[in-house]
Amino acid sequence: MMRCSIFHRLFLLIDIFFFVGMADARLIGHIDNLTDITWAHAVDSQKYLLEVLNSDIDFIEADILLGHVDNDCGDQHILPIMAHPPATTSDISLESFLTQIQEYNSIVEPNKVKGVKLDFKSINALEASIDIINSIYNKQSFPTWINADILPGPVNNTETVPVDPKRFFDAVKQLGPVVLSIGWTTKWSESSLDGCYTEDHVNEMISVIKENHIDKQGIAITFPVRAGIAANSLNQLKILHRAFNNKINVTFTIWSSANDAVNVEKLRQFIFTIGLNKVYVDVPADLKNQLHLDDVSL
Ligand SMILES: *[C@@H]1O[C@H](CO)[C@@H](O)[C@H](O)[C@H]1NC(C)=O
Ligand SMILES: *[C@@H]1O[C@H](CO)[C@@H](O)[C@H](O)[C@H]1NC(C)=O
Ligand SMILES: *[C@@H]1O[C@H](CO)[C@@H](O)[C@H](O)[C@H]1NC(C)=O
Repeated sequence: MMRCSIFHRLFLLIDIFFFVGMADARLIGHIDNLTDITWAHAVDSQKYLLEVLNSDIDFIEADILLGHVDNDCGDQHILPIMAHPPATTSDISLESFLTQIQEYNSIVEPNKVKGVKLDFKSINALEASIDIINSIYNKQSFPTWINADILPGPVNNTETVPVDPKRFFDAVKQLGPVVLSIGWTTKWSESSLDGCYTEDHVNEMISVIKENHIDKQGIAITFPVRAGIAANSLNQLKILHRAFNNKINVTFTIWSSANDAVNVEKLRQFIFTIGLNKVYVDVPADLKNQLHLDDVSL
């Protein structure tokens, strides 16, 4: 069992839950243009982690589930590992992953610090990771996002079970200063055309945030939205963007699977309407190029 430091016990006791801001010079330098921040995806192996730590990429996105680490010891101990379903093993545990990034961030110049976005594939994986994150990682100094799909979403996605929202919020309240990245499960493909985040989806998100008393001053939430669907949902997502009257720091993070159908013009319109200072763009390079984010004329 991981031991909690006194510092982290204090955190748990007084239930501090707020956004401290990005203490990282490069990310602060780009605060007016979040689309300039670069992403590495599914950094779920030791080899890829080392590659990313040796690159200029700003943000490391990785998946966590409960499984076991492949090694020569034949150890079948179940623990949080870096892996995406359907995988159930990995060559790297969450503990080792965070330790390496923490060491990297502690020694590099401030403008080289990397953020982490931890995508939890189940509530059990998140709950089992709290002590590990609290005892290893400096969330105060390095941007730390906790991501999960907490509601069922478009288009009629009934296959993926969302992470239970109440248990999600109860868990993240124990983590101190993190950015919440909370979204909907999605179903979309190369041939999808119709489908959007509906007003019902948006209202359910607003309710679940309010019911769990997350809408306190100073918290940062980013809503991960799938490019092809977000492009069809500007009006609905505007409601979400305005719902908390600046009490919560709301941004969107646009993501996309490799071959998703995307209406590029409508996505451009989404990004420029919400604002370059409010939208992270974590999509494949060819889609990002098509967006011509350097050309502000709509
Ligand atoms: C989603 O479900 C609704 C109601 O069951 C149905 O009318 C609609 O056609 C479905 N959409 C898709 C894309 O399957
Ligand atoms: C929102 O975030 C921005 C950039 O991260 C920061 O400058 C601003 O102070 C934050 N606002 C609130 C209300 O937390
Ligand atoms: C914002 O960042 C994008 C991506 O790097 C870049 O293409 C664009 O020129 C930038 N826009 C502004 C206004 O800084």
